[in-house]
Amino acid sequence: MPETTRHLLDIDGLADDELETLINRACELAAGATARRLDASAANLFFEPSTRTRVSFELAAARVGMQPINIEMSQASTIKGESLEDTVATLAAMGIDCLVLRHADIGLHARLASALPAGVHLVNAGEGSRAHPSQALLDAATLRARGIATSGLKLAIVGDVRHSRVAASGLQLWQRLGVEEVRLAGPADLLPPGPPATGVVHCASLEEAVGGVDVIMMLRIQHERMDRATWPDSAAYHKEWGLKSEHLAAAAAGCVVMHPGPINRGVEIAAEVADGDRSLILEQVRMGVFTRMAVFEWLLGALRAG
Ligand code: CP
Repeated sequence: MPETTRHLLDIDGLADDELETLINRACELAAGATARRLDASAANLFFEPSTRTRVSFELAAARVGMQPINIEMSQASTIKGESLEDTVATLAAMGIDCLVLRHADIGLHARLASALPAGVHLVNAGEGSRAHPSQALLDAATLRARGIATSGLKLAIVGDVRHSRVAASGLQLWQRLGVEEVRLAGPADLLPPGPPATGVVHCASLEEAVGGVDVIMMLRIQHERMDRATWPDSAAYHKEWGLKSEHLAAAAAGCVVMHPGPINRGVEIAAEVADGDRSLILEQVRMGVFTRMAVFEWLLGALRAG
């Protein structure tokens, strides 16, 4: 019986063995394993700005032998009124194998994936504030490649958690990987509404969030998802919520600092921390390429789970 076409839509859509396979494969590739050669193509469709995700999917496709195609969305036919459904069907008719999509509309990725012909794969490269699964996978691969076990880990996510798709996908993943405690911290109006889920605690201060934790993940303020009038003042925000060297002293010995980028120095993170020896920020970027290579291998059936 033919297998159903794989898509990467969110972390919850992956089985435990698939999560492990993807994270382990990213680590193997980072350690020098030979990539599979895939005779296929991948088109990048980014309707929101991106540096890391777009370039790393492009590099990843090239490194597994695929043909990467960057579509400049300001020049695409969606500008002439073509629906995204029709654009995607057009690309599929040309024989494109993978569509890598970043878009603000929640639910769009799943809708498009369900209408694709068999054999055409959709990758969620960012979906509003809902999901950014390849970022969560690369964050996990970054820790694993560094020998940091997620089982029993204490992790703080600090900043604009409410609007963050990185936090949303991360929350799904960290609990699946056995993290002991996830602390969420930030101004009250930037934390998720309602009570925290099991295993998650909300903290009222940065000091409370970082005390004794193994990993601190900082987030930028997602201005693009807020009214201008509600933007916090940068200097005041940095004073209260910006991660500085003094905070690292209160964390667990060997605590590492992560940030999905783009970083805003002097706002959510002090430059000395971003550039310091605890920072994994550029390592996350490096692991992003290997993780996306693993994603292409898995999508195209070159990587078996388990
Ligand atoms: N982390 C992340 O998604 O960065 P970009 O917006 O640069 O792709």
